[in-house]
Amino acid sequence: MIKIPRQEALNNRSEPEVVWLLYTLIRLTRAKTIFESGTYTAFATLGMARALKHNGSGKIYTVDIEDYVSDEVKNSKLAKDFIEFIRGNGVKVAENFPVKIDIAFIDSCHEGTYPLEEFKAIEKLLNPNGIVVFHDSISYKSVADAIDYIKRLPNFELITLTTPIFEWRDVKHNLPSGVSIVKQIGSFEK
Ligand SMILES: C[S@@+](CC[C@H](N)C(=O)[O-])C[C@H]1O[C@@H](n2cnc3c(N)ncnc32)[C@H](O)[C@@H]1O
Repeated sequence: MIKIPRQEALNNRSEPEVVWLLYTLIRLTRAKTIFESGTYTAFATLGMARALKHNGSGKIYTVDIEDYVSDEVKNSKLAKDFIEFIRGNGVKVAENFPVKIDIAFIDSCHEGTYPLEEFKAIEKLLNPNGIVVFHDSISYKSVADAIDYIKRLPNFELITLTTPIFEWRDVKHNLPSGVSIVKQIGSFEK
């Protein structure tokens, strides 16, 4: 486990409001299987795990190329009951993933076309009416480009919401991160 300075941890994790949004989506849809790319310290993962606990069952598969999760979190009852930590590249893991999912949270690499590649791999895993949530869809061009692409697909609808800008967040731009909710509308026969 890598020790992260507090400010860096605050800068990199999702806003509490985004975690509440994920919590609420899981509760409203009674989602059972979640895929997350970009675990980091598991801040959002734990929020989603609480939603599964309150739903009564479910599993989160969370992927990261690094391991930033403390042993305390890994050994917690919440994690043991609801979270499976996977070390790997988000796209590669999704491409070979054997389980169908209800909700995905994409918050990993923000470079080039990576967010779109991740979406394309994750799309194949979605159960009918599945949901994909993107973090940083306002502040990062790579994520905004992925959203622009998805907007044109006939089988998805989406909404982008702004997120609060906190004084304590030490970012190089003055943009809200933004969060987009992408929902599949009907599944096509192949
Ligand atoms: C912004 S942090 C994620 C924050 C976390 N979702 C939260 O809400 O607290 C981005 C994470 O993505 C991971 N990451 C970067 N590239 C990745 C990739 N190709 N596949 C999987 N994880 C990746 C980084 O190691 C980092 O932990």
